[in-house]
Amino acid sequence: MFPTQRPRRNRRTESLRRLGRETILTTDDLVLPLFAVPGEGVRRKIASMPGSYHWSVDRITEETARAADLGVPAVLLFGIPESKDASGSEAWDPGGAVQRAVEAIKSSQPELCVMTDACLCEYTDHGHCGLIEEGDVANDATLELLAKAALSHAEAGADVVAPSDMMDGRVRAIRQVLDGAGHTDVAILSYAAKYASAYYGPFREAADSAPQFGDRRSYQMDPANRREALREVALDLAEGADMVMVKPALAYMDIISGVAAECPVPVAAYNVSGEYAMIKAAAAKGWIDERRVALETLVAIKRAGADFILTYHAIDAARWLREDPS
Ligand code: PBG
Ligand code: ZN
Repeated sequence: MFPTQRPRRNRRTESLRRLGRETILTTDDLVLPLFAVPGEGVRRKIASMPGSYHWSVDRITEETARAADLGVPAVLLFGIPESKDASGSEAWDPGGAVQRAVEAIKSSQPELCVMTDACLCEYTDHGHCGLIEEGDVANDATLELLAKAALSHAEAGADVVAPSDMMDGRVRAIRQVLDGAGHTDVAILSYAAKYASAYYGPFREAADSAPQFGDRRSYQMDPANRREALREVALDLAEGADMVMVKPALAYMDIISGVAAECPVPVAAYNVSGEYAMIKAAAAKGWIDERRVALETLVAIKRAGADFILTYHAIDAARWLREDPS
């Protein structure tokens, strides 16, 4: 008699497995983060993120062309300034690397969705995501600067601006400034539930954006908190966010799942630099199979509830999915 229930029957052949598969990862789910830098002819390896590069504006479209040809729907741009100062003023320079990269990408791959990260930490000499007043990151004084940065991205042609600073009220401040300037169609992807995570380490090396004193725990979320993520999401939605993000992804799958269950807008998950670097490092040692681990990771993030995933593996994953989707 035993066992009458044999779940293995449904796994016997690949055809049966395909029929029963609950989550399908596709290239449509992927967004490629890219770093735009000043200068010309630059394609510089980022040591802590093998396979990722610093691109000057004249060359960044080589990479976006690859992404677009493979069917990746979107890129997310970060900028490295010529020089840093206390208020991060290059963040809203119309001639900055990000602003010019947006223009270049929009003219060579107009169908590619261009998202921009709006923050100050790459641009400030102290490395914090906002203005410093009396030794602390000042919330309200920062809002105007973030909105100026977001506006400069919109003027350059960005489809989506993505504030990653975690100041309170920034979605509303950005929406007002965008609408006031007639950019009612530019969407806001808010880094709504962004945790104070050590997984950002490789990125901070890439962006030279590590805080020069203290840390980000007075504005990014405490990794121990779950319900607070729902509050952050609710506030950003009320302020006008069109999409929300959970970040990082792997150590926060319960957050992705909880946010996705309640959220009426698309939910993004950021598979961050440290998550990527761990796969790269172990694969380089021959300890894991990069392709299989990366695809397993991405499908798991989708299974948790993400509608799309920001990943440094986007181009590789798109290629792998095209070659052999199983
Ligand atoms: C800027 C920003 C960071 C990341 C995205 N936007 C770094 C930080 O908050 O310290 C991290 C991305 C990654 O690790 O891949 N605020
Ligand atoms: Zn920042």
